[in-house]
Amino acid sequence: MRKQIAAANWKMNLTLSQGEQLLKDIQSKPHTLGANQLAIFAVPFPYLPMAQQQLAGKQNVFIAAQNCYSKKSGAYTGEVSVEMLQSLGISYVVLGHSERREYFQESNQFLAEKINICLEYNIHPIFCCGEPLSIREANTQNAFVAKQLEESLYHLSAEQLKQVVIAYEPIWAIGTGKTATSAQAQEMHAFIREQLTAKYGAATANEITILYGGSVKAANAGEIFGQPDVDGGLVGGASLIADEFVAIINALK
Ligand code: G3P
Repeated sequence: MRKQIAAANWKMNLTLSQGEQLLKDIQSKPHTLGANQLAIFAVPFPYLPMAQQQLAGKQNVFIAAQNCYSKKSGAYTGEVSVEMLQSLGISYVVLGHSERREYFQESNQFLAEKINICLEYNIHPIFCCGEPLSIREANTQNAFVAKQLEESLYHLSAEQLKQVVIAYEPIWAIGTGKTATSAQAQEMHAFIREQLTAKYGAATANEITILYGGSVKAANAGEIFGQPDVDGGLVGGASLIADEFVAIINALK
């Protein structure tokens, strides 16, 4: 059975001491993770060692980076390699977030290269996809997302794809408080799973965790996560509030 995941994306927020306190507050509040449920914390690069230390030994809890470079090492000032992440014991990395696509012009092809090197180092990519408002208003979101999947993932074998978590994040719902309805989320998640089925077969497609991201809150997580093809969430703003994120973890099905 595919994993159900509550993933926190802190983005570029919090000081070190605020991050430490947030993790302590989350750990102090009652939450349970079933055998098939994970909590993942995607923290800024400088906080990876702190998060690793804070959450060491916690069952089904993992730390993620929010990005990595596409090369093993070398003269790429300011970049962080998967080899460095592996040396820190990091096992997940968020790739292709819409904010990186927008502000840093990350293409589907570039993301395919990043996915390849992550898999080479046994690090799970959390691959983000999703359409801007203009595409949603034109009702061409399916073709838009299908192209993202095809150009970044379809070179992978079935076994490689099983190492990837997909996060559907409609850009118009990110940070806006305008959450996709659970029907809209389910419709796109089902479409993504149909696309993966056509390419890889139903057995593989049904093993892939597909997260929803875009204004997930404690108040809406239960309904969204209850959709048959939604396997949890990738959470921004609400993950910075301990009570909110604990409630979102507890909303996992
Ligand atoms: O990666 C998750 C993020 O893009 C969603 O942000 O604040 O709408 O939960 P938010």
